[in-house]
Amino acid sequence: MDNSKASSSSPTVKAPGTASLSTQLRDCEKCGSPYDPMAVHGSDKSYPFTLCPACGAQYIAEKAKQDAARKALDHENAIKRRANRLEQLLSQLVPWRFRDASLADFPDALTKPFRRLSGDGYVLYGPTGTGKTHLACAAMRYFLENTENLEAKGLPMFTTWDYLLLDIRRCFRQQSTESELDVLEPYVGAEFLVLDDIGGSTGFEQSESDFGLRIFTYVIGERLNELRPTVITTNRTRQATENAFGDRVASRLSTFEWIGCGGKDRRVTS
Ligand SMILES: Nc1ncnc2c1ncn2[C@@H]1O[C@H](COP(=O)(O)OP(=O)(O)OP(=O)(O)O)[C@@H](O)[C@H]1O
Ligand SMILES: [Mg+2]
Ligand SMILES: [Zn+2]
Repeated sequence: MDNSKASSSSPTVKAPGTASLSTQLRDCEKCGSPYDPMAVHGSDKSYPFTLCPACGAQYIAEKAKQDAARKALDHENAIKRRANRLEQLLSQLVPWRFRDASLADFPDALTKPFRRLSGDGYVLYGPTGTGKTHLACAAMRYFLENTENLEAKGLPMFTTWDYLLLDIRRCFRQQSTESELDVLEPYVGAEFLVLDDIGGSTGFEQSESDFGLRIFTYVIGERLNELRPTVITTNRTRQATENAFGDRVASRLSTFEWIGCGGKDRRVTS
């Protein structure tokens, strides 16, 4: 410590209320006022020894302000990083057309069930072009926005029903080392799954094939058991879906929230 600043002419003082603290007064580095450094710095070391109590209090207040500003900036940066990560994820996870889809694009009545983020899943049904896939992707955005520790939990997934069926076929190739279970694992394990357009390639009134039925029952059943929500979209009515997939699937889907989408075909402009 630099003692050269100590006022040589200062008298020895006693700090109020203390019996033995005595020292020479010293000039404050900032304001120049004489002060008793020992009286303060015997116990309080939260500001530099070279400051008087008044300047010390100012120093502490300024430091608290700077700390709060730094914390706010860190928080803001963390939010920005999370938002960037979210946009990056969404652009990888959902079809490009729907990367900006948000629940805010829909009336509250349609989005309320998703904001609860609970339950086994949702079936969005209705005619073509009424925004079912858009709403399913918006729900995925909402899920991402409201899930902590995403990386640890596992990412959501988007697939069309037809793609899933085609994907399974890769384990039927002669040289394939994968089983059906291997191919289905990511669909079963995704924390949140959009299963777009079920029954899209079969006729409206036609039953699902035995193969399709087996796969669908397995995927939905496993996901229900593990409490992993699924958003399904379909052009079929509830009755037609239940007819096409049969009683066992109908029973499982009865715990889903069924949300009807209507209105005009948004693809048709005029
Ligand atoms: N609320 C919305 N706000 C803005 N664009 C929307 C909205 N809903 C749907 N769209 C757009 O309208 C088009 C049709 O919507 P979408 O593909 O979701 O319909 P769909 O019901 O899934 O149709 P299909 O049954 O044929 O699959 C898409 O380009 C989509 O991005
Ligand atoms: Mg669709
Ligand atoms: Zn001072």
